[in-house]
Amino acid sequence: MIDVKDLEYIYAGTAKTALNRINFNIDCGEVFGFLGPSGSGKSTTQKILFRLLSGYNGSAKIDGVEVNQWGKKLYEKIGVGFELPNHYLKLTALENLNFFKAFYSRSKSPMDLLAMVGLEKDANKKVGDYSKGMKMRLNFVRAIMHDPEILFLDEPTSGLDPVNSRIVKDLILEQKKQGKTIFITTHEMHDADELCDRVAFIADGSIMALDKPQNLKLKGSKRMVEVRLKNDHNLYEFSLDELGKNRVFSALIERSEIETIHSKEATLDDIFIQITGKTLS
Ligand SMILES: Nc1ncnc2c1ncn2[C@@H]1O[C@H](COP(=O)(O)OP(=O)(O)OP(=O)(O)O)[C@@H](O)[C@H]1O
Ligand SMILES: [Mg+2]
Repeated sequence: MIDVKDLEYIYAGTAKTALNRINFNIDCGEVFGFLGPSGSGKSTTQKILFRLLSGYNGSAKIDGVEVNQWGKKLYEKIGVGFELPNHYLKLTALENLNFFKAFYSRSKSPMDLLAMVGLEKDANKKVGDYSKGMKMRLNFVRAIMHDPEILFLDEPTSGLDPVNSRIVKDLILEQKKQGKTIFITTHEMHDADELCDRVAFIADGSIMALDKPQNLKLKGSKRMVEVRLKNDHNLYEFSLDELGKNRVFSALIERSEIETIHSKEATLDDIFIQITGKTLS
């Protein structure tokens, strides 16, 4: 659905390459994530794909067509949730949605969309009086109002409290269930892990790794189990290989009361640091 090949971008007037010949593709119905720290090139990539930036080198195709060859029809096909919600703050949420509805040949009912994200009671409130979470939920329904096949969501949960973040993540998963192709950017490793079928690690404009979150984590994990016992300060570590046959392990768990037992899988955060030498925050 999305094919990016040797994509390079330099902002006018700057010497630094914002994107350094990156390659990836996103399959139909896939949730694909860009995980990377601030300034790594996540938004730049998305902006090229939805034609907010032109003058790139290499290739960026949507549905087999180079993005700079797409006309206005592209905007019927894609939905965009911008990093910084850009609503009309003096208008109400309903007025905002009615305004944007006019750009599309088809659209869901604005009131239904607001109800979908629990904003029906605030439909006639000025968006300037909305909280961050409310603005982000409005941002999300604005992106999906014309039922696009492809969704670009730039930092959809950034700065949200756990309740609002959960609401937005469930909405994303609901779109996935409907078969939509979704490209999200984030620096929240838990969100990337939970939502994405595949994740690319991006740092300094380069893709450093690309795989399923589980595969990335396994690559950097120690195949060990760690046991703590009640009333015992020692930490006991055993290899996961042939653990069932390990007599020391069997004896330990037979005769002692276990406080905690964990396999030592790495987090995406750990792996990101191992691969890129950078932290996500
Ligand atoms: N309009 C611009 N003009 C010049 N340089 C820019 C512009 N926008 C971004 N850059 C630079 O391009 C690089 C990539 O920026 P980008 O916005 O794509 O990062 P990001 O990964 O989205 O970061 P964040 O997590 O902070 O949103 C950075 O070095 C940034 O300073
Ligand atoms: Mg960004």
